Amino acid sequence: MSHDFEFNPFSHAHHADPYPTYKRLRDEAPAYYNPKLDFWALSRFQDVLDAYNDWQTYTSTQGIAIEGYAGSRSMIEMDPPDQLPLRRLINHAFTPRSVDRLEPRVRGLCTEFLNQIVEAGECDLVAGFAAKLPSDVISTLLGAPREDHLQIRLWPEAALTREQTGGQAEGSASGMQHLRAYFPELLRSRRAQPRDDLASALCAVEHEGRKLTDEEGLAFLTLLITGGNETTEKWIANTCFLLSEHPDQKRKVLDDPGLIPDAAEESIRYFSPTAYMARTTTRDVPIHGETIPKGEKVALLCGAANRDERQFPDPDRFDILRRAERHLGFGHGPHFCLGARLARLEIRVALEEIHRRIPDYAADPDGVDYMHGGNVAGFNRVPIRYTPAPRE
Ligand code: HEM
Repeated sequence: MSHDFEFNPFSHAHHADPYPTYKRLRDEAPAYYNPKLDFWALSRFQDVLDAYNDWQTYTSTQGIAIEGYAGSRSMIEMDPPDQLPLRRLINHAFTPRSVDRLEPRVRGLCTEFLNQIVEAGECDLVAGFAAKLPSDVISTLLGAPREDHLQIRLWPEAALTREQTGGQAEGSASGMQHLRAYFPELLRSRRAQPRDDLASALCAVEHEGRKLTDEEGLAFLTLLITGGNETTEKWIANTCFLLSEHPDQKRKVLDDPGLIPDAAEESIRYFSPTAYMARTTTRDVPIHGETIPKGEKVALLCGAANRDERQFPDPDRFDILRRAERHLGFGHGPHFCLGARLARLEIRVALEEIHRRIPDYAADPDGVDYMHGGNVAGFNRVPIRYTPAPRE
């Protein structure tokens, strides 16, 4: 039970290189307890997978962060069977078709953001591109007016920042309050005057005689924004950084853009934007010689599981041709990421456009900054240089 190393997911040093700690967790403390922060952690692939599937033992109803319970009433904080009608209802509004038809709009946004940086020959890839795209795509999908897109981008960023103790950083609570005030207004206006957008579809959707309540609609929109923006942003920036650091792999992708989805999947395995999701035990759980008591928070470390040598041969090698059959970057089981299709569309189009316009981009590994959130992992800043290119 006692260990001669500490795993603190909020430590800034941990964010820069979590992998030695993840390896020690998997090898020496596969059921790890942190007495200071009072949480447990599972890190081996099979354990994390099993816990995702066993929602009766590992409940989401007490929140999915180790540092507290948002009490959002969104489906991510529910278990089956309560979660299922809600997820089905939302699936009726947030359809593959509604995602796929966004492709031209996603490409248009990529062109617009790239036009703002291509001539300079250098930029911060996060601020200049990766942070803008997912937020504007979701705002577009929802039907939020263009002039509100910037705020919709900035509020969740504030809401997700954490201190090293796990406490909320300054501005975090107000970021969330702003979001919670904005969305009811958007839903109200769409209920009065429906348009061809997701906010209107959410107001109208009906399944087996059930409609979304206002509270459920608000909870879902907040979930989309907080769950879909930072993660996709980190995924894009992490992938470009990794390709820049592995020129042989980047060459393959440049020669065959059809490999972009393979590179993106390997990136999410190798450097998972969601480091973990938390659960709470509903009974005493004997595991690896320990007993996790009932009522304890447990972090399911997707980031560590995705580097488990028990599952992935040579896991610390970034190999875009690996084609790992499954990773846990989008979670697993009843809460498998609802936005995976959208995130995959965004990263594919983003990389197609970046590689077409500034193919020789090179990241400066000494200039990067890491995100200091709870469970979102990745860069806040990635300086890149490239041959200047004309606007289009
Ligand atoms: C790289 C990008 C993304 C990553 C790494 C990611 C990761 C995840 C993970 C790990 C879960 C499981 C949560 C759990 O089991 O407790 C999840 C759920 C979810 N994600 Fe994502 N996500 C991404 C993008 C998106 C996007 C773009 C959206 C929406 C537009 C989205 C919406 C959701 C929703 C609504 C859920 C909850 C589903 C449920 O409770 O049934 N995600 N995501």
